[in-house]
Amino acid sequence: MHYPNLLAELAAEVQPLLGQGRVADYIPLLARADPSRFGLALAALDGGLCGTGDDLESFSIQSISKVFALALTLPHLGEALWRRVGKEPSGNPFNSLVQLEYERGLPRNPFINAGALVVTDALLSLTGDACGTVLAFLQAQAGPEQVAVDEDIAESEWQHRDRNAALAHFMKSFGNFHNPVDKVLRHYFRQCAIRMNCRQLARAGLFLANHGLCPDGRRLLTRSQAKQINAIMLTCGTYDAAGEFAYRVGLPCKSGVGGGILAIIPNRMALATWSPGLDPQGNSLAGLAALDLFTTRTGLSIF
Ligand code: DON
Repeated sequence: MHYPNLLAELAAEVQPLLGQGRVADYIPLLARADPSRFGLALAALDGGLCGTGDDLESFSIQSISKVFALALTLPHLGEALWRRVGKEPSGNPFNSLVQLEYERGLPRNPFINAGALVVTDALLSLTGDACGTVLAFLQAQAGPEQVAVDEDIAESEWQHRDRNAALAHFMKSFGNFHNPVDKVLRHYFRQCAIRMNCRQLARAGLFLANHGLCPDGRRLLTRSQAKQINAIMLTCGTYDAAGEFAYRVGLPCKSGVGGGILAIIPNRMALATWSPGLDPQGNSLAGLAALDLFTTRTGLSIF
């Protein structure tokens, strides 16, 4: 398989979808993204790296950062983490409040906003700098080009924080939040506002394709923990569209409202795609289509 050609073919095939999705506008600065952009990149365990379209354009990774925050927290806490956050799909939108009351402040999984806020709270307690820990990891993994927090986007999220603040305060009322809410929110927003490009994101995700071992030789996760995170990506990584992603793509994926998606092919490679037009569940429309075509064309799904 000649991957550079395949990626270019897929980019051409998804062109008609560009502009059809809706750019996220609940974070006003994200609304400025251009929905006609599309990038797709692949990083392989054998060192291969290729991409197409806007694969070198950096974008706001948003919820994809939740994978890295979890991967940096789980090794410290192990099974104890799952006493503070569940690992079941929510079947609800990523910013939903409704289950938290029934389930006494225990978020369904680490990828909905409530669960990610608990993970950031835990990482802050462990390291004293949750966002800095995620950023340093991404900078080390992604390669020499710039990977940085977009402070304007972080500030825009902070200005429009009401819903995430409500989630955090509610969990605090159940005792499932240890640091001051505003401090955790600042770290969470800055972590979500990290910018990188598709090639960098694919490289940064390689440890998940390699059973927890990073390309630089660092072991971040045990084999078992890498399996656990991939499993939660498959079942919860794309929120109430996780069933659709499993059906169409058949890979562990994590999406973000910036329009990025990270997908893992265990033992082989990581893929990253970016296109800001979203479907109603908050996942990139063209990104989902490209990943669907990729696994259909190559047969490389986990099933
Ligand atoms: O907290 C938020 O709402 C955003 N920083 C992240 C949401 C997000 O990316 C959901 N993903 N599809």
